[in-house]
Amino acid sequence: MTTHQTAISLKPLHSFQLPYSAAEIFTITEADEVTELKGDYLVLGEGSNTIFTCDFSRPIVRIAIDSIKVEESDDGFHLCVGAGVNWHRLVLHTLEQNMPGLENLALIPGSVGAAPVQNIGAYGVEVGELISSVTAWDREERKWCEFTRQQCEFAYRDSIFKRHPKKFVITDVRFFLPKAWRPRLSYGALADIDKNASAYEIMSAVVAIRNSKLPNPAQIPNAGSFFKNPEVTPKVFNDIVQHHPDVAHYPLENGNIKLAAGWLIDKLGLKGFQCGGAAIHRKQALVLINNDGAQGSDVLELARYVRRRVAKEFGVLIEAEVRLMGNDGLIEL
Ligand code: FAD
Ligand code: EPU
Repeated sequence: MTTHQTAISLKPLHSFQLPYSAAEIFTITEADEVTELKGDYLVLGEGSNTIFTCDFSRPIVRIAIDSIKVEESDDGFHLCVGAGVNWHRLVLHTLEQNMPGLENLALIPGSVGAAPVQNIGAYGVEVGELISSVTAWDREERKWCEFTRQQCEFAYRDSIFKRHPKKFVITDVRFFLPKAWRPRLSYGALADIDKNASAYEIMSAVVAIRNSKLPNPAQIPNAGSFFKNPEVTPKVFNDIVQHHPDVAHYPLENGNIKLAAGWLIDKLGLKGFQCGGAAIHRKQALVLINNDGAQGSDVLELARYVRRRVAKEFGVLIEAEVRLMGNDGLIEL
């Protein structure tokens, strides 16, 4: 059933909790309802990667399709999951039913529908590796599309859906979780986990690590990593290493190097730095927080300041990972 509300507070609808409102919000609970939607609307899941920096004038459509269907085959489990299901609820559901595979991605906030959009990733796993296909309504062509994993064009925090923010509404995501499961413990922070740990035990360890580093949005409003980790060429990397031999980095298959943006910001001594009510988290420099009644202008000023300082010191331009919303759509830093 589609519901329609006007003049709604956005504060509880995005995890950064800025004090703005939306002109109108539609909520849909069945996939077919999406075909009736017209006009220039914004699709919103749980708002954990979206920051509304002012009042929002366009209609918002929230996807609340809530279903988990499972089919078992000889080699694994085939899941078809509605876009409105909470991501961590899905992770717990699969592990409780002895379907391993999603454990490294535990406790990532947000909805299943948004997971393919930025190809959520954590602790050495990206969701695109486990997705078999995505069902989406093409708003421009007004037709249903089924994207195979390859057609989703998954990359680090990227996909075809992210690059076409006004084109697709994802209604269902299909996953394949193979029965031939192996633990994925290569990410540094997982080094202490027992090699014989069960998937459920790995999930519990990931939850504990995340709780020790990342602020819980219910207590300290935030949107996770504010910036993406930048990829640089060997030449740029060598220049940085000369001055900062201990820079946190990871070699990539294409010969480039990924830098830890949190390390760069931390190195500048910016933990705890504040602009108005927006601040850099004291435990994780890549996370900006709504510390004390922040306004959208505080967040933008802080983010732009961090970006300038990183560019000046390291010669690297870091890009926002979060979706920053102005009055009628995405804005750039
Ligand atoms: P929203 O913020 O509602 O939407 C995000 C984008 O997806 C928007 O552009 C929106 O238009 C689009 N979208 C949403 N639903 C749909 C749909 N059904 N169809 C089409 N487009 C849609 N991310 C990681 O990758 N790894 C992490 O480890 C991680 N940790 C985090 C920790 C914290 C504390 C927080 C607050 C965030 C973290 N994030 C992380 C970011 C966030 O959890 C993910 O980006 C998540 O997928 C966002 O889901 P959402 O439903 O809240 O998306
Ligand atoms: N670091 C510092 N200081 C800091 C923060 C980090 O020195 O303040 C160093 C760490 O010591 C480590 C390196 O930077 O050597 C990387 O830190 P961490 O493992 O915490 O990961 P991250 O690069 O900051 C990324 C993702 C997270 C994801 C974690 C775990 C991005 C933009 N962020 O963070 O995703 O949970 O790895 O895989 O890729 C998100 O996308 O919102 C998010 C939280």
